[in-house]
Amino acid sequence: SNTANTSMLHYWKFFAMGVGYTVFISIIAVFLGSILGTLLALMRLSANKLSNLVATAYIEFVRGTPLMVQLMFVYFGLGLFVNLPALTAGIIAVALNSAAYVAEVIRGGINSIDKGQTEASQSLGLSKSDQMRFVILPQALKNIWPALGNEFISLIKESSIVSIIGVTDLIYQLKIVQADTYRGVAPILVAMILYFILTFSLSKLLKFYEGKFNHA
Ligand code: ARG
Repeated sequence: SNTANTSMLHYWKFFAMGVGYTVFISIIAVFLGSILGTLLALMRLSANKLSNLVATAYIEFVRGTPLMVQLMFVYFGLGLFVNLPALTAGIIAVALNSAAYVAEVIRGGINSIDKGQTEASQSLGLSKSDQMRFVILPQALKNIWPALGNEFISLIKESSIVSIIGVTDLIYQLKIVQADTYRGVAPILVAMILYFILTFSLSKLLKFYEGKFNHA
C-alpha cells in the first residue's frame, strides 16, 4: 500500500537475521575448514607421495576455481543424490573452499619454524609425531592463529555468494528489503555498513588478542 513504511529501520529484523546467518555460516565453515585444512597441510608435509599428491591437487584445484562454481556444484551436484537444504550446501561449499586456504596457512606456519627446532628435538630422541606435537606445532600456532582469524574475516565477506542458491544471508535479505520497499540503494548501503562493522570489529579484536599473545 502507499502507506508502507520504507524506512530501513523498519526492516531491522531482516538485516539482523541476515547478519545472523552470515556469521553462523562463517563460524561453522571456518571451524570445519580448519579441521580439514590441518589434515591437508599434514598430508602435504608427509613423506607419503600419494597423500602429498592428493592434498596438493585438492588445494590447487579449489584455489584455482571460483567459490561460486564450487557452491553450484555442491548444491546441484550433491542435490542429485540427496535432498540437500541450501543452508547445508552453502556451509559445505564454503568449508571445503576454506580448507584449501587454511591448509596453506598451516603449512606456512609449520615451515616458518626454524630447522634447528626439529634437529634439537631429534637429538632429544623425540619421535616424529612427538616433534610435531610438542615442539613444532606449539610454536607454529603463534603464526597460524591470527591467520585463521583473518580467514574468518574473509569468510564473512566471501560467504555472501551463498545467497545465489537461496540461503537467507545478509545479501539475500537486502534483496528482499529492496523488493519490499522499491528502494534500490538504501538496503545495499545498510548491508555494506553491516559487513564493515563485522569485519572491522573482528580485525580490531584479533589485533587486541594478538598483542596479548605476543607479550605473554
Ligand atoms: N572469491 C574468491 C573465489 O571465488 C576467493 C575465495 C576465498 N576463499 C577463502 N576461503 N579465503 O575463489
